[in-house]
Amino acid sequence: MSNSRILSGYRPTGRLHLGHLWGNLRQMVELQEEGECYFFVADWHALTTEYQDPSRLSEYVEEMVLDWLAVGLDPERAVIYRQSDLPQVAELQLYLSMITPLGWLERVPTYKEQQEQLKNRDIATHGFLGYPVLQAADILIVRGERVPVGEDQLPHLELTREIVRRFNFLYGKTFEEPQAVLSPTPRIPGTDGRKMSKSYGNYVGLDDEPGVVKEKVLSMVTDPARRTRKDPGDPEKCSAFQLHKIYTPDRLDEIGGNCRTAGWGCVECKGILAERVIEDLLPFQERRRELEKKPGLVSEVLREGRRKVAPLADEVLSEVRRRMGIGRA
Ligand code: TRP
Repeated sequence: MSNSRILSGYRPTGRLHLGHLWGNLRQMVELQEEGECYFFVADWHALTTEYQDPSRLSEYVEEMVLDWLAVGLDPERAVIYRQSDLPQVAELQLYLSMITPLGWLERVPTYKEQQEQLKNRDIATHGFLGYPVLQAADILIVRGERVPVGEDQLPHLELTREIVRRFNFLYGKTFEEPQAVLSPTPRIPGTDGRKMSKSYGNYVGLDDEPGVVKEKVLSMVTDPARRTRKDPGDPEKCSAFQLHKIYTPDRLDEIGGNCRTAGWGCVECKGILAERVIEDLLPFQERRRELEKKPGLVSEVLREGRRKVAPLADEVLSEVRRRMGIGRA
């Protein structure tokens, strides 16, 4: 599968956290060796839920690109761009929206879930309903074949595949069905045991200082059976242990054993974890500080990315127009 076209996008919602890092980011860094990579900041997607207050959107775009670069996404090896710099995506979304039945969109699980979760915002909008069509346009505008995403995005990927099948059926074979590439790392729990997420406020940020990391790790939920220091626990019921699997694989038996026998208290166990996390974040944080000192870096990266992706987008869009009977004199 080498030389395939790889595409992924992130909504700019502020600084990144461990959930992003282990969800896809590390994988995206590695995939840069494997194929032609397109990584973009999905600022239009952010707008679908943040349209009432977009005041920090451009700042978030900048922060995210800096985080990406500090983690190791490399503009020399991947095309890094901003969605809204590629108006071809919006036009493709329009065409795809013509052939996407409303029922398909209403069935996407995130549509109802988000309505429930973001009760304080009015997202009963055309734009939000069309979120997955926009995502399909993101992927198809570069003929993306492999799409690194989290499990929560699988329904969106499936919808893209359905749109591809319908498009090919109606207008002739034009697109390949993209495949999701899931992270090899198990799901990262937040400090409260739910999925790590900015909106739950349960995350360890990539920019968290050592003291903050320590405090957050110490606050992680553990097996409720360990009410006192002497109660034995089941590591599989402990969020900190899930992180140990990633950060302390060399000492897992020891750590699990000391939980089951109550040999250690949770504070000791979490102390070891906190140290590993802090150590792992340090080189990232140093690079991030260096990058911040370079004025204009992000605009330069995005400008270059746009320049590289535009010809491909133009080519795809002219084929779509031609197939859908839209002429250009
Ligand atoms: N919906 C994705 C998320 O919330 C972001 C995204 C937008 C995306 N367009 C995409 C991901 C295209 C992969 C491909 O994480």
